[in-house]
Amino acid sequence: MGFIEEIKRRRTFGIVSHPDAGKTTLTEKLLLFGGAIRVAGAVKSNKIKKGATSDFMEIERQRGISVATSVMGFEYRNYKINILDTPGHQDFQEDTFRTLTAVDSVIIVIDAAKGVEPQTEKLMNVCRMRKTPVIVFVNKLDRPSQDSFDLLDEIENQLQIKTRPLSWPINSGPDFKGVYNIYNRNLRLFNANVQEIEDSIEFKDINSPELENYIGDDASVLREELELVEGVYPEFDHEEYQKGNLAPVFFGSALYNFGVQELLDAFVEIAPYPRSSQTEEREIKPDEKDFTGFIFKIHANIDPNHRSRIAFVKICSGKFERNKAYKHIRSGKQLRISSPTAFMASQKEIIEEAYPGDIIGVPDSGNLVIGDSITAGEEIHFKGLPSFSPELFRYIENADPMKSKQLSKGIDQLMDEGVAQLFTSQFNGRKIIGTVGQLQFEVIEYRLLHEYGAKCRFENLAMHKACWIECDDPKTLSEFKKRKHQKMATDKRGRDVFMADSGFILQMAQDEFKDVKFHFTSEF
Ligand code: G4P
Repeated sequence: MGFIEEIKRRRTFGIVSHPDAGKTTLTEKLLLFGGAIRVAGAVKSNKIKKGATSDFMEIERQRGISVATSVMGFEYRNYKINILDTPGHQDFQEDTFRTLTAVDSVIIVIDAAKGVEPQTEKLMNVCRMRKTPVIVFVNKLDRPSQDSFDLLDEIENQLQIKTRPLSWPINSGPDFKGVYNIYNRNLRLFNANVQEIEDSIEFKDINSPELENYIGDDASVLREELELVEGVYPEFDHEEYQKGNLAPVFFGSALYNFGVQELLDAFVEIAPYPRSSQTEEREIKPDEKDFTGFIFKIHANIDPNHRSRIAFVKICSGKFERNKAYKHIRSGKQLRISSPTAFMASQKEIIEEAYPGDIIGVPDSGNLVIGDSITAGEEIHFKGLPSFSPELFRYIENADPMKSKQLSKGIDQLMDEGVAQLFTSQFNGRKIIGTVGQLQFEVIEYRLLHEYGAKCRFENLAMHKACWIECDDPKTLSEFKKRKHQKMATDKRGRDVFMADSGFILQMAQDEFKDVKFHFTSEF
C-alpha cells in the first residue's frame, strides 16, 4: 500500500463523555467489531469510581489499566482505527484536553435520559476551539429516555453545534424497538435477550406496509417522525461536519451492542483522516515526506521494577522508521528510537514503521517531556497543547529526611508527566505544588511513596492564582519583584511567577503595575 493510501485509511479519534454515560462500554463494543478483543468485559473501566477519592488502590489500578488502554489500535474494513482513551474523572481533565490535541475527530457519548451534562459541555468547548469534527452517540435507549427531538435541541443549544440525526430510535425503555438507519436506509430491531448482531432489514421505502409486520403500530409514528426529521434538518453536509460545524447523531445502546455497528460503519466513511497540524513556524501536512511528531502524554514507572517511562508520540507527517536518526528539537540532540511500540488493542509490540495518525510509544529515561517536537531535522515546534492554570496549591514537605534525593527526583518526574506544576518560593525556598483537582495531591503522595520510596507531607496554602509575569522594562520588573518578594516563586523552567493570595491582591498588583503582563498559564 502506498504512503497516501496509508494516511487515508487512518482514523484517529477520541471518545469523550460525562462519567457514566457509557464511554467505556462503547469503546469495548467498538473493539469487539475490530476483532481486537473476543469477549465483552475485556476492557476494564479506567475511571475512578465515585466516592473512591481516598482509595489509593483504585488510583493504582486505574494507572495500570490506563497504560494498556491509553491507545487502542485495530483494523476494521481495511481502515486502521486508533482510539485514544481519555480519563473520565474531572480531576484529570488536563490529561483529556492534551489527548484531544492528538485526535482528528471525536465521538461524544450522551446518556439519553440525562442529556447534555456539565463535563460534556466542557469537552465540547475544547473540540469547538480546535474545530474538531464530532459525532454524537446517544446511548442507553434501552432505558426510558428523553424525547429524541428534545435531545437534539438540547445538544444544539448546550453544545452550540448544529445536529443532523443519521439514525432514529423507535421508542425507548421497555418499549424500545430498534433504530432506523437514515444513513443506509435500513431497520435494525432490538431484542434485549440477544446480544448477537442480527442482520438489519433493508427498508428503502419506509412507507411499505411491510414495516407494520416488524414494528406494528409504531410504524406510523416512525414514518411521521422521519418525515419531521427530513423537514427540519437539512441533508447531512459532509463538509460542514468536517469543519466542526455540524454533528451527525446516532442512537443506540452500547450495553446491548445495539446501534454501534451503524455508528462505526458511518464513522469510518465520514470521519476525517489525519489533518494538518499547526506549528509555530508553519502548517504541517500529513503527506509531507519528512517525519514530524509531538509528545502529548508521558507515563512513568509502568513497571515498578524498572525506572521506565513511555512517551506517546503522535505522528503528524511522513513515515516513521525505527532506528532512523531523528531530532529532538528542545535539546537539539539526535534521537534514534530502537524499540518503538504500537498500541494494538491491549497488546504492545515493537514496530518497524508507522504513519501519520498513528501513535507510537517511545521508551525514555527522562529526556522527553510533554509538548516536545521530534522531526527528521527541521526546526519546528508544534503548538496547541493546552497549559493549565493551577487552582489548588499546597506546600510539599519531605517527611523522611533520609529520602530527600528520591523525593526531588520523584517530584521532577511526576511534573514531567504533567500531573501537576511545581513552584519554588523565591522568598524561603519552599516547594509549592499546584493542581487543578484535589485528587492529584493524593496521586502524588501515593506515587512518590510507591514508585520512589519517598514520603511527603502537604501543608495547606490559601492561594488564589499563579501568575507568570512579564515586563518589557527590566527596571519595572525588578521593582515589582522587590515589592512582591515574599510572593515571588520560580517555575520549573526558571520563570518568574507571582503567587497572588486573593483576587483582590491580584487586582491591586495589576492596577499598581500597569506595564507588567500577568499570564495565568505557563504557555503565553
Ligand atoms: P463511562 O465510561 O462513560 O463512565 O461509562 P461506562 O461505560 O462505565 O458505563 C456506566 C454505566 O452505564 C455502567 O453500569 C454500564 O454498564 C452502563 N451502561 C453503559 N451503556 C449502557 C446502555 O446502553 N444501557 C444501559 N442500560 N446501561 C448502560 P454500572 O452499573 O455503573 O457499571 P458496571 O458495574 O456495570 O461496570
